[in-house]
Amino acid sequence: MGYSEKVMEHFTNPRNMGEIENPSGVGTVGNAQCGDIMRVYFDIDDSGIIRDVKFKTFGCAAAVATSSMATELVKGKTVQEALSVTNQAVCEALDGLPPIKVHCSLLAEEAIHAALWDYAEKHGIQIEGLQKPKSDIHEDEEDEEEY
Ligand code: FES
Repeated sequence: MGYSEKVMEHFTNPRNMGEIENPSGVGTVGNAQCGDIMRVYFDIDDSGIIRDVKFKTFGCAAAVATSSMATELVKGKTVQEALSVTNQAVCEALDGLPPIKVHCSLLAEEAIHAALWDYAEKHGIQIEGLQKPKSDIHEDEEDEEEY
C-alpha cells in the first residue's frame, strides 16, 4: 500500500506514545478532512530543553508514524530547534509518505507547534517564529466566543 519500511516500523512500534502528567505544554489539533486528532505533551526544563515528549492520537498509520518520528526528532532539542522540525523533515526521515497521506504528517507538526505555543503562553515567553496555532478543531468555532 505504498508505505516505506520505516513508516511501517514506526507505526507498529511507535516511540513516545502516551501522556505526560503536568506537562510544560500540551497541544491538541485535528484534521478536518478525516476527523483525526493528535495531542502532544512536552516536559521542558528551565533552560528550554525538551526533556520528554509524548503523543496520543486518534489517527491513521501515517499520523502515528509521523508523530513517532517527529517526537524522536524534537526530543533533547531546544524549543527553538524544535520549531525547525518541519513535516517535510519528518517525511524525509521516514523515507517519504504516499502523496495522499502527506496531510497526515501535518498533524504532528501542528500539534508540536500548539504544544510549544501553550508552553510559551504559560511561561510568558515568546518563541521566535512560532505562530499561534490554527487548529482545525476550533476553526469553525470562531463565532462562538460570545457565549
Ligand atoms: Fe487522518 Fe491520516 S487519514 S491523519
